[in-house]
Amino acid sequence: MASASSQRTVMVSGASRGIGLAVALNLLAEGHRLSLGVRDPAALRHRLQQLGWSEDAASLSIHPYDALAAPDQPNSAETWVAATAERWGGVEALVPSAGILSRARVCYSPGEEAEIARLLDVNLMGPWRLGRAAWPQLQACGDGRLVMLVSMSGKRVKGRLAAYGVSKFALLGLCQAMRNEGWESGIRVTALCPGWVNTAMAAAVSSIDKQAMTQPEDLAATVAHLLSLPASAVPFELAVNCLLESGS
Ligand SMILES: NC(=O)c1ccc[n+]([C@@H]2O[C@H](COP(=O)([O-])OP(=O)(O)OC[C@H]3O[C@@H](n4cnc5c(N)ncnc54)[C@H](OP(=O)(O)O)[C@@H]3O)[C@@H](O)[C@H]2O)c1
Repeated sequence: MASASSQRTVMVSGASRGIGLAVALNLLAEGHRLSLGVRDPAALRHRLQQLGWSEDAASLSIHPYDALAAPDQPNSAETWVAATAERWGGVEALVPSAGILSRARVCYSPGEEAEIARLLDVNLMGPWRLGRAAWPQLQACGDGRLVMLVSMSGKRVKGRLAAYGVSKFALLGLCQAMRNEGWESGIRVTALCPGWVNTAMAAAVSSIDKQAMTQPEDLAATVAHLLSLPASAVPFELAVNCLLESGS
């Protein structure tokens, strides 16, 4: 359990399943205040109730959020941040975990161009919109944290998944810009770069043994540790490898 002074109000996107859900469950158990943004709040409410968590608890709120929603929509990044700030009095950390995969390669078929645009919208503009919307809150707290689910695919292109890699390289660039922008006001950014993590996304493209992959719960414990560190000790980039990757 985190000490009272280290408890934060944390917004987590992609909390319906996979890495985002594991992060949310870990941080709830650690005593943080969680604001979860998902496309289907009712389904997440039901799932969390089965796991013993309800919004009656002082530490949990669930909001509609779609990474593609326009600012004036009830499920936009802006609306979610405003609701979180109203409920908890501020936002102290952000963990954007919503993301999608595309198999589009360098020579993509004409029909795949819309898919690539959507991928960039969700994987790059989604976290950008969210960070931009939460920025005043993160600044105001004086010790804000942003843990971005990038990927090893943001550091090297290993196979032929051109579009996914491009979205994650761009996201790593955004992380660097956010680090620069936020440094003076105490915001610390970590670009978390896992290889394969045992979720539906990895199962769709990887044939390696699921137990050999990084487990979402272990990645969630890493996120919790990152949030516990003082501003002088937060790593900017963290590679989490389940397979040997020479040089990274
Ligand atoms: N798994 C890996 O091997 C791996 C490795 C490195 C990095 N990552 C990154 O880690 C993050 C989480 O991945 P994961 O493995 O947990 O994936 P996942 O199991 O496929 O879950 C994806 C999450 O993103 C949400 N999402 C998708 N589109 C959305 C949208 N338009 N608006 C709001 N939410 C949306 C999904 O919500 P719904 O339930 O509503 O679809 C779901 O909660 C992603 O950014 C991914 O790129 C994953």
